[in-house]
Amino acid sequence: MTFNQPHSLLPVPSGILEISELAVTSKMRLSLVLPTYNEAKNIKAAIAILSQLLDATLPEAYELIVVDDNSPDKTWKVAQELIPQYPQLRVMRRTKERGLSTAVIRGWQAATGEILGVIDADLQHPPQVLLKLWQEIESGADLALASRHVEGGGVSEWSFIRRFLSRGAQMVGLIILPGVLGRISDPMSGYFLVRRRCVTQITLNPLGYKILIEVVARGKIRWIAETGYVFQERHAGESKVTWKQYVEYLQHLLRLRFSLWPLRRFFRFGVVGFSGVFVDLAVFFLLRELIGLGLTRSAILSAEVAIINNFFGNDLWTFGDISRQQRGWQKRSKRLLKFNLICLSGLTLNVLLVNLLFNVFGFNEYLAKLVAIAAVTLWNFWFNLKLSWRVTDSGM
Ligand code: GDD
Ligand code: MN
Repeated sequence: MTFNQPHSLLPVPSGILEISELAVTSKMRLSLVLPTYNEAKNIKAAIAILSQLLDATLPEAYELIVVDDNSPDKTWKVAQELIPQYPQLRVMRRTKERGLSTAVIRGWQAATGEILGVIDADLQHPPQVLLKLWQEIESGADLALASRHVEGGGVSEWSFIRRFLSRGAQMVGLIILPGVLGRISDPMSGYFLVRRRCVTQITLNPLGYKILIEVVARGKIRWIAETGYVFQERHAGESKVTWKQYVEYLQHLLRLRFSLWPLRRFFRFGVVGFSGVFVDLAVFFLLRELIGLGLTRSAILSAEVAIINNFFGNDLWTFGDISRQQRGWQKRSKRLLKFNLICLSGLTLNVLLVNLLFNVFGFNEYLAKLVAIAAVTLWNFWFNLKLSWRVTDSGM
């Protein structure tokens, strides 16, 4: 069987989970992935309804991609047999990899559409909502999300315990990754559309069920639109969610947390800051003992020399990759000036904190100073990261 025959299966992409740009301008507008595991009883109805809907809206400009993980109930085979009837249908059967999130990405890798999407294959996601999501994309959204937690959204007959678990998982996510989960009202949703260009040139590395979190965390997404939907009851088959998915969800959040925090830069910033202490002391010693300058002047001058030392350490090493892109002495002096101002604000904060901790909270003097140093290091790091070197992307 060759690939061009209508009944053939899609080849399964392998290697890293990266989505490529479209080589030529494709006329395909939407590629919608339906991940399946034991959905033989649902897949036919799902394909029928979605095809009808999309034939009316995007005739011949959409594709439905079933990605099945070699289901024991042969979902892939049932889907494959539908291809002659639905020319926009593609089917992938994975035998080596498993799991919902990677299934979606493998499907997107094989997709040729400009907009990529995902919907459950068990009809728990109402198909009509897809048209609203599509409208949001047409209006310019980078990501259009079906949410249970905005107007028009909800769940049908969920037990208290399931609601509790779902909301609890969301709360935990908000604590671990506020910058990601805080952007979406329903981070658990597996029903959304995203522009291909927002998820290219990044390596995705999801775990478990929640592909949306991965996309929002690592993708280049500005505009997010949400549409309410009511999560339907299952008609046939059963949910694959077990306690394992909750553990994987937690692992996924933590993995993202550590890859999004600029830990390497922070470490280098700390090393440079530490070197500054010795520069400060050495210059202070020189000015006092050899030149005989007054105490305050010596302290100010030596602190400034340390600041300059730290600036160059950070400019060449901690943020070397960035400063190499912003060459020229003018830009460098601007960074030095900002660095100086931020360190000065840090010093002010330091003095205020020591006073507050000592006078108001009754801390021991040295403990107060230690806490202040830690807080100011974070302060200086963060503001220099964002203002002096302007590290804006999250992948650092
Ligand atoms: N290929 C593949 N591999 N598909 C899978 C796998 C897998 O390992 N596990 C599940 N699926 C498919 C299912 O067949 C179904 O089409 C879809 O992924 C969702 O799985 P369900 O097991 O039906 O999940 P659910 O209904 O309990 O959970 C849903 O919860 C969210 C709301 O909190 C998620 O699937 C979300 O999409 C949904 O919005
Ligand atoms: Mn389901």
